[in-house]
Amino acid sequence: MKDNLFVDVNDGSCSKKLQVVIPQQNKNADITTGASLIATGKLNIGASGQIELQANKIDILGECIISQGYPFAPRKIYPPEYIRQYLHLRPRTNKFGSLLRIRDALNFEIHNFLHLNGFINIHTPILTSSDCEGAGEVFVVTPNNNELLKDMKRSDISLEEAYFNKKAYLSVSGQLHLEAAAHGLCKVYTFGPTFRAENSKSKHHLSEFYMLEVEMAFTENIEELISFIERLIRTISSEVLNKCSEDIANFEATTENNFMFYASKPYHILNYAEALDVLEKNIDKFKTAYCNKEGPSKEHEMFLVKHCGGPVFIINWPKEMKPFYMKECVNDPVRVSALDLLGPNVGEIVGGSLRENDYQKLKARIPAGNTDLDWYLDLRKFGNVPTAGFGLGFERLIQSLLSINNIRDTIPYPRWAHNCSM
Ligand code: 4AD
Ligand code: MG
Repeated sequence: MKDNLFVDVNDGSCSKKLQVVIPQQNKNADITTGASLIATGKLNIGASGQIELQANKIDILGECIISQGYPFAPRKIYPPEYIRQYLHLRPRTNKFGSLLRIRDALNFEIHNFLHLNGFINIHTPILTSSDCEGAGEVFVVTPNNNELLKDMKRSDISLEEAYFNKKAYLSVSGQLHLEAAAHGLCKVYTFGPTFRAENSKSKHHLSEFYMLEVEMAFTENIEELISFIERLIRTISSEVLNKCSEDIANFEATTENNFMFYASKPYHILNYAEALDVLEKNIDKFKTAYCNKEGPSKEHEMFLVKHCGGPVFIINWPKEMKPFYMKECVNDPVRVSALDLLGPNVGEIVGGSLRENDYQKLKARIPAGNTDLDWYLDLRKFGNVPTAGFGLGFERLIQSLLSINNIRDTIPYPRWAHNCSM
């Protein structure tokens, strides 16, 4: 303006910006979009009733050389795909700042809820020799020190096995280790990064994602597990809705949020067979054959959520669709006591089950000759206890809560096939 320069300043603590009013005579050519500065002056109520800072001194800490390719112009709204090209600059954008604060609040509320309910946080390993899910989506870990490997290599093993004397992977799930901890501490959880070599094109899959995993000893029926998951998600959704209302509103110009959906809608329970029935009755030309080997497709999952009008647990899955550790249903050996929780915009956000604790049945489901899981079988030999647990995909939850189109926009530094750029 004629007399004053108006600058929007944000320190990252919230989505609001402080307007700094700088008299033209104090104007500095280095004040550009993206610059960092210290403004000194007096707080005023401005013409619109907003608090503003009447600056009498401006110190530029770091100028932003726009001509060298700074990608963001003031007050312009960019599509997420554009902003994602600049992962190192993305945290300073207004909307992504809100995302990171909401993510932090959800993280805090999860730890808080679990501690208030008597759970103990266990750090499960990232380097492991077992593929918990058995789906072969593992990353193999090999050290990069050729001299060391040459030194260690014996003629009978591959280079990949030379370091640990067996193949090691980045963990796809901490569950098996968590089960071992549950046999000593009863109520345990782990919340850390997990790794899966996934298809690059999916809007719902990352190569590195955070998973909350909970394991509870002395849990013998799936209803107990279901009601615990419901209580956890209801609580954290309503806490974060209250505490982050401004940041959540920052998303609402483009999308609807689902915090209330998770906090107050009824949660539904369908048998796997009932879910197929609903799909067959409601979707033209739906055939069970359209289900992929993990069950209904994403579109089908989202249909079920819409149809029920709330989050939906699908329970009692065909045994051949699920991993070896899930417990057989009573009087129904072709099904397992497993659950998937489906939510809006993403489908599956939680997978869990009762664990097979019958030594003979479990042994029969581990391929003959595989001795890697002997320690896991031991748990059923020495003080066997029924346990149940689940894994909640943290980014899937965020994607569902905020109706984010692509999961790559829920985590600060997303990794997916062909993309590990910084
Ligand atoms: O259903 P999943 O594979 O279950 C397990 O890993 C169990 N061992 C968990 C347990 O019982 N302790 O994965 C759990 C959740 C999924 O429901 C999904 O939300 C998320 O993890 N997930 C992913 N999220 C982002 N990117 C991927 N590639 C994911 N794969 C699974
Ligand atoms: Mg699953």
